[in-house]
Amino acid sequence: MGSMFRCIRCKRIIKPGATFRCGCGGLYEVQHEFDDVTRELFDERLGTTNKPHDSGVWRFKEIVHPGIDDEAVVSRPEGNTNLYKRETVCDYVGVQSLSMKHEGENPTGSFKDRGMTVAVSEAKRRGASIIACASTGNTSASMAAYAAQSGLNGVVFVPEGEIAYGKLSQALAYGAKVIQVRGNFDDAMRLVEEASSKIGYYLLNSLNPWRIEGQKTIIFELLQQRGWTTPDWIVVPGGNLGNTSAFGKAIKELQELRLIDRAPRVAVIQAEGANPFYRLWSSKGGQLEPVEKPHTVASAIKIGAPVSWEKAVKAVAYTKGVVEQVSDDEIMDAKAIVDRSGVGCEPASAASVAGAKKLVERGVISPDESVVCILTGNLLKDPETTVNYHLGKLKGITSRASNKPIVLEPDSSGILEDLKTLFTSAG
Ligand code: F0G
Repeated sequence: MGSMFRCIRCKRIIKPGATFRCGCGGLYEVQHEFDDVTRELFDERLGTTNKPHDSGVWRFKEIVHPGIDDEAVVSRPEGNTNLYKRETVCDYVGVQSLSMKHEGENPTGSFKDRGMTVAVSEAKRRGASIIACASTGNTSASMAAYAAQSGLNGVVFVPEGEIAYGKLSQALAYGAKVIQVRGNFDDAMRLVEEASSKIGYYLLNSLNPWRIEGQKTIIFELLQQRGWTTPDWIVVPGGNLGNTSAFGKAIKELQELRLIDRAPRVAVIQAEGANPFYRLWSSKGGQLEPVEKPHTVASAIKIGAPVSWEKAVKAVAYTKGVVEQVSDDEIMDAKAIVDRSGVGCEPASAASVAGAKKLVERGVISPDESVVCILTGNLLKDPETTVNYHLGKLKGITSRASNKPIVLEPDSSGILEDLKTLFTSAG
């Protein structure tokens, strides 16, 4: 039978196609028929240079996309990201054991490459010619890179004036056609979904269940790095909720395959100004109410109508997880700590660390539990936010750890003496 699509709502099963929503409105997920796999199979491939198993995604091919030929895989390779432990971050969060999995180390600077390698390989295999996505930045850069590598045409829909500049530069440089939508991410998402169904673009947002299959490998890889021992908590920022969905599916499958013996709990962290999933979860409601005008300094998670909310509900419930929200002030404060530890991440990623701290303060995570925070993107994203933070110019944000540059006039006299004491005087 191989891999099929199964509707998460009405359970209908169909052959994988280019439509990702069932007639009943539910999203499809990929359902595999797994052969027996072992930890040893995946461990033996560590450090290999053989394609495609040199990738941190395709190392797990049997539980990601078993049916695709190795030759059809479009891979950079991606994944193989580090797990960092920093005492300053542990102290800040208030736990003894915390590590950060840095997905910003992927080829285009975010976790998106993990989903993209799988979904673009599938697009090519299906004979798609135009691939498309809506994006706040990272998805567009990632899709554009894989489009370029695979020889497919890429179209990205981005909110005008709201996409991080460096990400726009990647999309343009890799040759994607960029459509700037006069609206926010949710408008861009609606338009690209319409364009895909009416014009036949192959959609590459995380609505596409193959993206979710690739993103499961964040979990596979982090557990492998920990010698297949489960942390108590995995903390992840939530925007469109693709990762949350992928994490739940990955954990369930690992348990079913007996590759792990207990499930970590997943904590999803949203920004206060873009918190529809947090509201849904805390009100124990059945239906997501979109946030009309989402706002947050964390551009990647400025999303009011997350498409994967229903899958995400299942994921959090399955892992006995929680959903928390954090303010922009808390996000930037946590980011300053992660950055200063030498690891560094983009604002949206720091929501995971800010959220972990809050959950410890609330007594949900206990100080002796082990925590893994996912850093979803690279420090070089949203640079104006970081610089303005250090200049103390971010509205409503207390720059507790600001690091202002020093202005030096070419004719300043006496400044060299001051520079000698730069660090001693700063304490
Ligand atoms: N972190 C980063 C760095 C992101 O780029 C995104 C999403 C998220 C977190 C949220 O992840 O959607 O799986 O809950 N960025 C999308 C984009 C929207 O267009 O790049 P999610």
